[in-house]
Amino acid sequence: MKREKKLYPESGVELSPFTASNYDMLMNTVSFGAYGKFIRKAIDGIGIKATDSIIDLGCGTGRNAALMVNYLGETGKITGIDLSTIMQKQFEARFAGEKRATFRQQRIDVPFDLGEKADVIFISFVLHGFPQQVREVILENVKNHLKPDGVFAILDFAEFEMAKMPALHRWVFTTFECPYAFDFVERDWKKILGSKGFDSPSEKLYFKNYIRLLKVTIGG
Ligand SMILES: C[S@@+](CC[C@H](N)C(=O)[O-])C[C@H]1O[C@@H](n2cnc3c(N)ncnc32)[C@H](O)[C@@H]1O
Repeated sequence: MKREKKLYPESGVELSPFTASNYDMLMNTVSFGAYGKFIRKAIDGIGIKATDSIIDLGCGTGRNAALMVNYLGETGKITGIDLSTIMQKQFEARFAGEKRATFRQQRIDVPFDLGEKADVIFISFVLHGFPQQVREVILENVKNHLKPDGVFAILDFAEFEMAKMPALHRWVFTTFECPYAFDFVERDWKKILGSKGFDSPSEKLYFKNYIRLLKVTIGG
């Protein structure tokens, strides 16, 4: 399958057809099998309620959505949003016959309107992969789709100074991560989110504090 031209040339979250087709397997392999346990724990940390409606931005294969749907009762629902048709196929195959999960093919880096708001908006390993002005568009999309007192949960790199990383960690990070991630990790995301009207930040750290689940709410 031919690779489409990237919207953002240095982005590592716009995946090649090979990576998109094998994404879950690759995550298990590069983490030496640790990813499954980690992602279950991280998703448990969101605090999903049975009646929640959830939006998963850049949902990928639906692996995370499949964990989140376990917390939902009959009236809960999840909408996975992604631009990739390769991801769409995997998501829809995973949720065949499951009415609570639907996929929408949609770019999240431009303003959009789903016509409804959610109790929880989740974005996992996507936000770091854009230039800062594009991340700000994504935050606006979140604000426009979150119910009062809703939860916005970002699972992504935590905050750290690259200069202070052990040399091997820095080499791995700078060799395999996209350059957009380099400024992402050095920004004060609690402050940025606060300036956009999000409040009550709380966080959980994983993988030697390099990965973080950062949750904020939005006042009513
Ligand atoms: C690194 S993967 C993460 C997938 C999933 N969130 C996870 O944690 O397993 C990044 C995902 O973001 C999607 N993506 C990248 N750019 C996007 C955009 N502009 N709009 C919507 N989805 C996008 C990709 O297709 C891919 O599925």
